[in-house]
Amino acid sequence: MKDKEYVRKARLLMRKMTLEEKIGQLNQVGASIYGTTNESGYEEMAKNGKVGSFLSLHDPERCNKLQRIAVEQSRLGIPLIFAEDVIHGLKTVFPVPLAESCSFEPELASRTAEVAADEASACGVKWVFAPMTDIARDARWGRIAEGSGEDPYIGSLFAAARVKGFQGGGNDGNIDEKHVAACVKHFACYGAAESGKDYNTVQLSDNNLYNAYLPPYKAAVDAGVLTVMTAFNDLNGTPCTVNAPLIEGILRKSWGFEGVVVSDWAAVAEAEYHGYCADRKDCAAEAIKAGVTVDMMGHAYDTYLSDLAKKDGKIRRCIDELCEQVLVLKYRLGLFDRPYADLSRVKDLYSQEKLDLAAEAARKSIVLLKNDGILPLKRGAKVLVTGGLATDKRSMLGCWCFPETQESTVDTLSGIKEKFAADYAAVPVDISRYSAIICVVGETNRETGEAASHAFIGLKESDVALVKAAKKTGLPVIALVLSGRPLALTEINDDVNALVECWHLGSVGGRAIADVLCGDFSPEGRLTASFPRETGQCPIYYSHFNTGRPYIAGQGCRCKFRDCDEGPLYPFGFGLTYTEFEYSEPTIENAVIGKNDKIRLSVKLKNTGKVEGTETVQVYFRQISSKPIRPMKSLAAFKKVRLAAGESRTVKFTLDPDDLGIIRTAALKPERAKGKCEIFVGANSEDCKKIEFVTE
Ligand code: BGC
Repeated sequence: MKDKEYVRKARLLMRKMTLEEKIGQLNQVGASIYGTTNESGYEEMAKNGKVGSFLSLHDPERCNKLQRIAVEQSRLGIPLIFAEDVIHGLKTVFPVPLAESCSFEPELASRTAEVAADEASACGVKWVFAPMTDIARDARWGRIAEGSGEDPYIGSLFAAARVKGFQGGGNDGNIDEKHVAACVKHFACYGAAESGKDYNTVQLSDNNLYNAYLPPYKAAVDAGVLTVMTAFNDLNGTPCTVNAPLIEGILRKSWGFEGVVVSDWAAVAEAEYHGYCADRKDCAAEAIKAGVTVDMMGHAYDTYLSDLAKKDGKIRRCIDELCEQVLVLKYRLGLFDRPYADLSRVKDLYSQEKLDLAAEAARKSIVLLKNDGILPLKRGAKVLVTGGLATDKRSMLGCWCFPETQESTVDTLSGIKEKFAADYAAVPVDISRYSAIICVVGETNRETGEAASHAFIGLKESDVALVKAAKKTGLPVIALVLSGRPLALTEINDDVNALVECWHLGSVGGRAIADVLCGDFSPEGRLTASFPRETGQCPIYYSHFNTGRPYIAGQGCRCKFRDCDEGPLYPFGFGLTYTEFEYSEPTIENAVIGKNDKIRLSVKLKNTGKVEGTETVQVYFRQISSKPIRPMKSLAAFKKVRLAAGESRTVKFTLDPDDLGIIRTAALKPERAKGKCEIFVGANSEDCKKIEFVTE
């Protein structure tokens, strides 16, 4: 992927650079307060070539001011890169990534990432710290909101789609004016933090690493991602940021990644706290030898590399190699030719077209979990809305966003008011005038995202009390759950007539919710993370192993909890629509799949309800015996199918046994699946019909 011309230019430039200037390129500094205070500190750094990139700045005028100093006043005029956490939009805010993955529509994620890139670049940002592709199977971890859930197949599709959206269409890694460099994170396996506690240790077998956790990062690399961020955690005893087998071995050698590796915030220096490095100087040496290009706010590189380099030729070579990577990235981003943000583009931020896309994404992210027929509500119906989250604009935006556009965010109540005769009350009152009560429950934006691990993920007592009080009135109760994680909803599940997982939906979330409530949009989202019944079931995911004592109802010494029903409250892949679908028995062309054959499946799907609807037909695979063992089910394909009332269609899939087998090495190339196998076709990971076959 490395463009020879850029490498040549970078090397020419490096001939003129001092050691200190090269180290400067490897230093990334947080500048969120630039322009409000400490102007001269940042400006001095830019002028003296002590910094290669700034993060947390997306004001185009401030970016340009610093850039002008770097370009016009520094000795070699090397431009800076401005990086930012544009996780689900900058000005126009899209649903949190977990929600968006419930669309089962990677192409949608590509479009939202592209708009995010457009707005970011208009604001001077040419490097975004997304997509986050950490597989997350434990909803206690607050950062589950930032990824695509529990499944490596979905995770890989969304990872690749988002990279393409952010970076644009190819040109061998050249990034045009309206796109940005993406950064896949957090490498690796940050989502497997023990007990869902953020920053905690990660212990994973090779089987889990290769088959479940690493594939989405590799998908991003294969899609051409230009940068990778290391994870805070240790992986099996070695902190990821000083982990040479992981970075040099797997990422660079095995996967062929040639771009920039940036540490997470201060993670280089944290190798000391992990108890891996003796002191911060050692951290700098280990990180640079492991292949970490940029030290984000660890101040280990800028403090110690110069000294280390004077004594150690290997470190000098590493500095050269890594500095070249930063410069090549700057060439790819066109920064030497167009260093400044074009201020005229600011007028296109938050445009109607972008908001329309945000509305589409929000509608497709909503998952209808339960409905006894109360939904859709008649347009114009008189409803009572309760719950503090109903008017909380900031929480509708979710974790990781900037408050600038908060005022114009459509909260739940405002959205509902556009379609219904709605009143708001803190608690259910005067119920005689209403046809239903809508309880808005869940969590605030501050309760999800980074450093928001929870030991309890049930609903808050006040939310449960609200729903119970609503139920007591005798009116139908609709619960809307706003959250960044799957919450354990058991306490209200039986009390409500309808339960809607709305997530944190972004700029126009309230409007999307109202579209679903009134049936202008028939819900089509499917869960990409299992919803537990109780916190104690975490981690919980559909693709578990069978164990030697699989659960059998009513039997004693089985893999189960004594005080909790088996399985999730709502499984992976689950989601209702406003219609009903009927599946025929799926069929397979050959019950024995020969060496060069593919698996050809078909299933007849019928919309047996009264309205049009979209079904997501899901195909899961199982290899009956394998050494080591494999999951009970793994998602292998899916198709979204839109059918009118009464319409039928035969849905076909072709799968290749070569893609379905176990992965045994870091190259992540699957073996061919051989022997007895099963395919499951259906509406979700639990409700599906089985076919058995043998592959040769
Ligand atoms: C997070 C990263 C983020 C970085 C920069 C860290 O705390 O883990 O995901 O990109 O900060 O803001």
